[in-house]
Order: sequence, then structure tokens, then C-alpha cells
Amino acid sequence: MTYYDFIAQEYKKSKQLPFRLHIEAYTYFHLLGNLVGKSILDLACGEGFYTRQFKLQGAARVIGVEISEKMIELARLEETRQPQDIEYIPGDVLELGKIGSFDLVVASYLLNYASSREQLLKMCQNIFANLKLGGRFVTMNNNDSQSPISYLTTEKYGFIKSIDSPLVEGTPIKYTFTSSDSDHKFSFDNYYLSRATYEWAFQSLGFKEVRWHKPIVSPQGVEEFGQEFWQDFLDCVPIVGIECLK
Ligand SMILES: C[S@@+](CC[C@H](N)C(=O)[O-])C[C@H]1O[C@@H](n2cnc3c(N)ncnc32)[C@H](O)[C@@H]1O
Repeated sequence: MTYYDFIAQEYKKSKQLPFRLHIEAYTYFHLLGNLVGKSILDLACGEGFYTRQFKLQGAARVIGVEISEKMIELARLEETRQPQDIEYIPGDVLELGKIGSFDLVVASYLLNYASSREQLLKMCQNIFANLKLGGRFVTMNNNDSQSPISYLTTEKYGFIKSIDSPLVEGTPIKYTFTSSDSDHKFSFDNYYLSRATYEWAFQSLGFKEVRWHKPIVSPQGVEEFGQEFWQDFLDCVPIVGIECLK
């Protein structure tokens, strides 16, 4: 059992929060670009929220890998309801090895589960191994550069981060989400590793270019909520996009 087996349904529901749609997903797809005809390996695919969208946007072949049995179960349930020819493989990215050669390897919120540089390197090795030469790794991740002083600022968007000890390599960061339709809360931990450690891991493997991207708001999000509503999120930005070229 993994922790996500217990929070799978709640996590799935949290994808409906406005920031998920108007900032997280919008930024992610902006970085991914045109997916038509692409082969995509989605690591830590969860219940398939993005995995399904990749196929809808024209990807030719999509495989999801996920450690939580419950998350995989939810993903497969959707695949049974509406078959998209997506393959879901239960497994730990730390032990994945090479299962193919993909145009894109994606892994939203996987790397922040590495609690040490050794684990991060292992995850990155398995990402690198599954990419074609010229392929890209794209992910959304915890923003290491956000100051803990601003962690409460995101409360109005439906989640906050918190820490029990100073932010050093491996410090757990608790994410607490509030459901959009109730005051019900659920939490899970990620781990802090500095940008220097991430850069070290990407460079050790030989990624040619590494780019860090500040999230952006969708025009629809601005229209619906107003620019002012998003300003705190953008000023204290809690997540970051990462793009690496093999
Ligand atoms: C925050 S969720 C993100 C899910 C999905 N990528 C999304 O954006 O909706 C993180 C996921 O990573 C999975 N995970 C964490 N460590 C993993 C590992 N070592 N191998 C595979 N999956 C992992 C968890 O089970 C969970 O489903």
C-alpha cells in the first residue's frame, strides 16, 4: 500500500480546483506543445488526469506508470468506461529501467517525491533512459524557490504548504488541500531538494538543455476570475515547470 491509495479519490477531485485548470494544466500544455503523433511516457500518472488528455490532444501512443494501486485502478476504470488505448503499468519509477523510447517523458509532481539526491538521480536516470535522442522531459514540480514565509498565501486557491523544520535537503513539505465544494481537507508530503541538486542530477545524465519555467495563467482564467485574483499565486509561485532536452 502507498499513501496515495488512501487519498486517490480526494486527489482526483482536487484536479477541479481553478488553479489546477487555469495555471497548472495551462502551463503544462503550453510547455508540452503540439502532441499530435507523439509517443508519451507519463510517469507517476496518478489516476490518469493528464494521461487521458495527452491522447485527446492527438498523441499516438501513451503509457502511464504509477506506484499506487488505487490510482492505477481509477485510471483503468476510466479506460474501461471510455477506451483510449492507454496502457497503465503499476510500478515504481525508481526501479523502472528502460521500457521504450519516447518522444516525450512527462512526470507531473514525481521528482518532488525524491527525498535525497541519490533518489532524484535514480528517477532522472530512468527518465533519460526512456527518451529518444532529441526527446524532451517535461514536468510540473514543487517550486524550490518559494519562500516558506509565503506558504499561507495560496490558501485562497485551495491549498497550502507547511514545514515542521527548516528547509534543507530532504525536508518534508506538507501540501494540504481543501476540497472545492466543502471544508474537507487532505494532505500529503513532498520533499525539498534545492535547484542546485536538480541541476546536478540533470547535468550528470547529460541532458543538453534545462529550462525552468514560471507558471502562466490562461486567458480564460483571467476572464473568469480577473488578473487580481491570480496575483498572489504568481507573486509567491508554489509550483514550477521544468523542461530538459536529451
Ligand atoms: C501529486 S500526484 C500527481 C499525479 C499526476 N501526475 C497528476 O499530475 O495528476 C503524485 C503521484 O506520484 C506517484 N508516485 C510517487 N512516487 C512514485 C514512484 N516512485 N513511482 C511511481 N509513482 C510515484 C503517487 O502515487 C501519486 O499518484
